[in-house]
Amino acid sequence: MRKIYVFDTTLRDGEQSPGVNLNMQEKVEIALQLEKLGVDRIEAGFPAASPGDLEGVASVARAVRNATIIGLSRSREQDIDAAREALRHAQDPCLHLFLATSPIHRKHKLRMEKQQVLETAEAAIRYAKKYFDKIEFSPEDAGRTELDFLCEVTEMAIRAGATVVNIPDTVGFLNPSEFGNIFKTLKENVPGIEKIQLSAHCHDDLGMATANALAAVLNGADQIEGTINGIGERAGNTSIEEVAMALETRQEFFQAKTSLVLSEIYRTSRLVSKLTGMDVPGNKAIVGANAFAHESGIHQDGMLKEKTTYEIMSPETIGLKESKLVLGKHSGRHAFREKLVDMGYDLGDEQVNAAFAKFKDLADKKKNVLDDDIRALLEEKLVSTPEVYVLDS
Ligand code: KIV
Ligand code: ZN
Repeated sequence: MRKIYVFDTTLRDGEQSPGVNLNMQEKVEIALQLEKLGVDRIEAGFPAASPGDLEGVASVARAVRNATIIGLSRSREQDIDAAREALRHAQDPCLHLFLATSPIHRKHKLRMEKQQVLETAEAAIRYAKKYFDKIEFSPEDAGRTELDFLCEVTEMAIRAGATVVNIPDTVGFLNPSEFGNIFKTLKENVPGIEKIQLSAHCHDDLGMATANALAAVLNGADQIEGTINGIGERAGNTSIEEVAMALETRQEFFQAKTSLVLSEIYRTSRLVSKLTGMDVPGNKAIVGANAFAHESGIHQDGMLKEKTTYEIMSPETIGLKESKLVLGKHSGRHAFREKLVDMGYDLGDEQVNAAFAKFKDLADKKKNVLDDDIRALLEEKLVSTPEVYVLDS
């Protein structure tokens, strides 16, 4: 089984989510949880962005011992120097250099010709190589870069000393077949490609970030970059938990897996949500409140007979205690009866039927029927039917 390295950028690209601002302690708390989750690489920030960001990266570098700590840097010496300072105490430091390569960025943002882009990036990598053994180079907006130029840039980066070349779909523009093809083309055409790792960095503007990352894996990517809960610029980045669980659940298909401690996924998701203030949507894959909840009677009946009828992975795998059978208007008698038993009620068939009818009436008026609602409904019943009793343990 091929190992896929996990590069977590929750603290850098994730922090670029509008409205998110983590202080130093919060960054360290998340980084330590990422270390427990077993991510291989943590991008802790962009040291040249502000003195606070530099200090944040330095604090993470001091605290984390079991993951590579990465600082982002533009392709300029002042940025590289700021990253050197921030990463001074890292056990295993890495510099992440980037420069845009797409025609749109070359023309409107950088105002550079292709040759200047190549020379600027090469000079930055060679300068950084004096101080860093590990250098990742990202041709920003690779997704909209001419494929032959991307090959040229990758070849230059390898020659200059990059150890990882990352392919960012910066604006989430590509589909899985196009993104996968970039990896295939680089693998087949760039001399020296076997000496480095290839990485995938996707954004979710069209909702394809996870699919694109998986397409990259199928076409030879060694590393995926992403964030917890998929937070990040605009619509966010690839969700690390989604890629990890897709590889885990479909191992035979992908023949690749991460070395994450999957049972730490849920805890990590909650912590990131709490500290960033970004709620996780209920229907979010893997970590949403409804990801392991079942409401319809047919599904609940199936779940009670055999969980694999409606669950392709178990909640325990990501560190949750159990699936939830939520009682609502679609729920059936089977789940209702189980709920009563769970709550300590032992009712005969007739009482269950009577209570179930009342429950259905209530469920038509109320979105979620809670334990207290059921208790109230049964207390009424207790008054009129004395044979109903509560189990004592
Ligand atoms: O999306 C992007 O292009 C980035 C780069 C800095 C890698 O985040
Ligand atoms: Zn990004």
